[in-house]
Amino acid sequence: MSTAFAPGALLHDHDRWDDDPSPRMLRCARIVARTPHVSTFEFVSDDRRALPRAAGQYVTVSADIDGERVSRCYTVSSPPTRPYSVQLTVKREADGVFSRWLHDTLRVGDRLELSGPAGEFSTAFHPSERVLLLAAGVGITPMIAVLEALHDLGDATDAVLLHNSHDPSSVVFERELAALAEGNDTIRVVQAVSVDPAGTWAGPVGRLDADMLTQHVPDLTTREVFVCGPDAYMQHTVALLGELGVPAERIHVESFVLAEIAPPEVNDTAGAPGHTVHFARSGKSVVIAEGETVLQAAKQVGIRIMTSCQNGLCGTCKIVKIAGEVDIAHNGGIRQREIDAGKILACCSRPKGPVEVDV
Ligand code: FES
Repeated sequence: MSTAFAPGALLHDHDRWDDDPSPRMLRCARIVARTPHVSTFEFVSDDRRALPRAAGQYVTVSADIDGERVSRCYTVSSPPTRPYSVQLTVKREADGVFSRWLHDTLRVGDRLELSGPAGEFSTAFHPSERVLLLAAGVGITPMIAVLEALHDLGDATDAVLLHNSHDPSSVVFERELAALAEGNDTIRVVQAVSVDPAGTWAGPVGRLDADMLTQHVPDLTTREVFVCGPDAYMQHTVALLGELGVPAERIHVESFVLAEIAPPEVNDTAGAPGHTVHFARSGKSVVIAEGETVLQAAKQVGIRIMTSCQNGLCGTCKIVKIAGEVDIAHNGGIRQREIDAGKILACCSRPKGPVEVDV
């Protein structure tokens, strides 16, 4: 554009993306390598509209990959106080269709479609004067958005981040987080690594456990706690927090919908109308009503399936169907060849008869 950039002139209601909720095409403006396997991809809109959001929320991005529409949800790692760009910090997963495309194919100047934001995992929705942010690996993305927003706003919230990484070479945002702690009396950052081959790491070494938590956050029961990381880390950490006396209502997790409490006689439904869903690994079965989804069936028997959009878009709830027929009303979260290979999306798959899944 030929006009000079004037930030103040952009801060008007008509520049906000939420005037028009339809997906936007965004241009990749910058790619920054964070570690050998993690990069930040920054996107901007050519019409320079802002994306109002809460720190910690995610967006859904879509692109045509190998001739098929593929969509995934990623947390925005840049703070809402910098609303004219969206940064997504993504780890390249060997079997991740979208993450491989981002890392291997996307170049500066390329475009993709973005919609959102969405999600409740944000300090904005659970306000507190004292917060504890627990992250593992690339689960740091919502946390750095929160901390940078606190910094930008001069917010006095007392925030402690305890970030666990595998080893010193895999610590994402190490410099940026150190600078945030250095520049803010109310932000404290603890970087831990699981292994330290060279023996040079200055912080804690080892996995998150009760000793590490209570040593570095002795007042953890007084804080609103946010947890984000891989599945095993989240389950371990939530259980640990409970054992240490943190009330469940003060623990907030990303990417998971916790299953409802299982009814005691879950297999005693043989005579009920509807379709039987059998979960092979757990051995549980339940009969659900016509039109209910496999995800709803899982909740009824207390089985946890990882979800994000719950709208057939992000692909997070992908599981393997062993037997039976389902209707999949998805929005691009699964590819035809995956369906042909027996995969389904639990959130939008409705059994047409008895179904067995590998969960
Ligand atoms: S949770 Fe996103 S597709 Fe099912």
